Parts: sequence; C-alpha cells; structure tokens
Amino acid sequence: KRVAILISGGGSNMVALAQSMCGDHPARPVLVMSNDPQAGGLAKARAMNIPTLAIDHKPYGKDRAAFEAALQRALETAKPDIICLAGFMRILTPEFTAKWEGRMLNIHPSLLPKYKGLHTHARALEAGDSEHGCSVHEVTAALDDGPILGQARIAVHAGDTPETLATRLLPLEHALYVAVLRRFAAGDRTPVNLDG
Ligand code: GRF
Repeated sequence: KRVAILISGGGSNMVALAQSMCGDHPARPVLVMSNDPQAGGLAKARAMNIPTLAIDHKPYGKDRAAFEAALQRALETAKPDIICLAGFMRILTPEFTAKWEGRMLNIHPSLLPKYKGLHTHARALEAGDSEHGCSVHEVTAALDDGPILGQARIAVHAGDTPETLATRLLPLEHALYVAVLRRFAAGDRTPVNLDG
C-alpha cells in the first residue's frame, strides 16, 4: 500500500509513521506534503528520502477549492492508497473528503467525540476531565467526526497545563497512529485502544 502523509508543522507523527513502514509492514510512504513551505517536517521527510511537496495555501486566499485542486493534482501523481493527515491544520471541503472517503485518516488530540476542533487540551482541563487522550479516525465531511479507528488515554494530573498534557500525549499519538495504520493498511478496521 502507498501512503501519503499531509503535515503543517514539525511532523513528529509523520516521522513515526514513516519509520514504522518497513520490513513486513504492508505500506510504504510515497509522499509527504505540507501546506506550509516552512514546515519543519519537510526537512525530516527529505532526510528519510521520502519525496516531499509544499503547496502553500496562502496564495489561494479563500479559494479552498483551488488549493485542494493543487493537492489533488499532486496526489494523482503520487497515487496513494491511503492518506494520513498528521498535524495537518487546514480544513478540507466535503468535495475533497468525498474523493478520499474510506482511504484518509486523521489524528486528533482528544478523546472524540469530545472536543472536536482546536484547543483540545485547554478544553479538557477547563472541563476538569480526569482523563484525556487522542483519537485516530477516518476523515469524513464533518470535522473530526468520522469512524474512530483507535484511541489512547492518559490520566490528567493536578497542575497539568495544556503544554504538559500535549507533551505527555504526543508519544501516545505516535504509538496509536502507527498501530492503527498497520491494521488499516492490512484492511483491518478493528479499533486500537492504548492506555498510557
Ligand atoms: C499534535 O498534537 C497532533 O495531535 C496535532 O498536531 C500536533 C503536532 O503534530 N494534530 P506533529 O508533531 O506535527 O505530527
């Protein structure tokens, strides 16, 4: 299976996924694409000899369709079987998600269906949650809403801040996404559950 990974920033999830796709793993990374030409993850992908592409969303302004047409052209060349959104921070239109439905995954730093959207760590703290976590889901038209393929949980500690939560959660995101992709690439949609 051919996997394209879309990033916007440091790409630590992308690195974990790319490093996992070796040996008897049924998938291989074929493209790392970013909407930000300055994304640190692009250099990490190049260092791993993965083809990269930056399609800056800013010149497209509000024209989401035109930006996504550029993404689609690149994807039609790379011909991935699976797309992994990994710290990709652009909202995709229903037209684009429909093209890739059933073949596109995303990692979101909350225990979905709680806290769709942004600032998930602060919202979990604000709510006084005793546990927090991350979810990998299939991408559908509605934001952070598709079928859940895996979750990882951590306990919230007294004195936690959004930063300490995010830091404690990130390695679990990597472990979860790697475990989910391995199953998904083998055609297995059995949910993964990890407890940190
Ligand atoms: C992570 O917290 C991830 O959950 C969110 O983006 C953050 C950075 O991810 N989607 P990465 O290091 O760029 O993979």
